[in-house]
Amino acid sequence: MQYPTTHLVVMGVAGSGKSTIAAALSKQLGWACAEADEFHPQSNIDKMSQGIPLQDEDRWPWLQQIQNWMTGQAQAGHSTVLTCSALKQSYRKLLSEAEGRVLFIHLHGEADLLSQRMQGREGHFMPPTLLPSQLATLEPLTAEELEAGSLRLDITRSPEELLTEILAALKLPSKQEPSAQ
Ligand SMILES: Nc1ncnc2c1ncn2[C@@H]1O[C@H](COP(=O)(O)OP(=O)(O)OP(=O)(O)O)[C@@H](O)[C@H]1O
Ligand SMILES: [Mg+2]
Repeated sequence: MQYPTTHLVVMGVAGSGKSTIAAALSKQLGWACAEADEFHPQSNIDKMSQGIPLQDEDRWPWLQQIQNWMTGQAQAGHSTVLTCSALKQSYRKLLSEAEGRVLFIHLHGEADLLSQRMQGREGHFMPPTLLPSQLATLEPLTAEELEAGSLRLDITRSPEELLTEILAALKLPSKQEPSAQ
């Protein structure tokens, strides 16, 4: 590989565009992609379906499972794109301990726009009533995290613009443009 194994964690509250942007990144880069939601135990899914916010004790085993997946991919030589709300710095710290370089891309937006984007999506287990609690929990990326290469992006922009900015900011090669080095 011509660049170190990298994990891009597309983070933010519900409706911020994580799945949309992660899918575009994964397609462009040809990297393995996963949704953090896939790693939840059934007990967590049941709580969220009922509008009950998860407690941290529900989250640690879930985040550890995700970290294990990232490390497994890195050991196989694969970079990844992951969607994960990663609202607190402590959650991000646990994910950062995966093998490889872990960078967070925070999709930031205002509450009104977020609820608009959450509406009308069928079969989604996150009810819009959980948005206020997610926004209250959200700990923005710290100066240290930003200095280490993580990004905060404004979701009023189009997915195409966001994708272009991410690839440029992270100096990532795309599948179609092999690195000259
Ligand atoms: N930058 C954008 N501009 C306009 N619409 C967007 C943008 N990003 C995502 N959307 C739309 O907003 C909605 C929510 O996006 P998406 O499902 O990707 O969010 P999410 O963060 O994965 O949500 P969840 O946490 O609930 O899984 C979708 O209908 C998607 O098409
Ligand atoms: Mg999603």
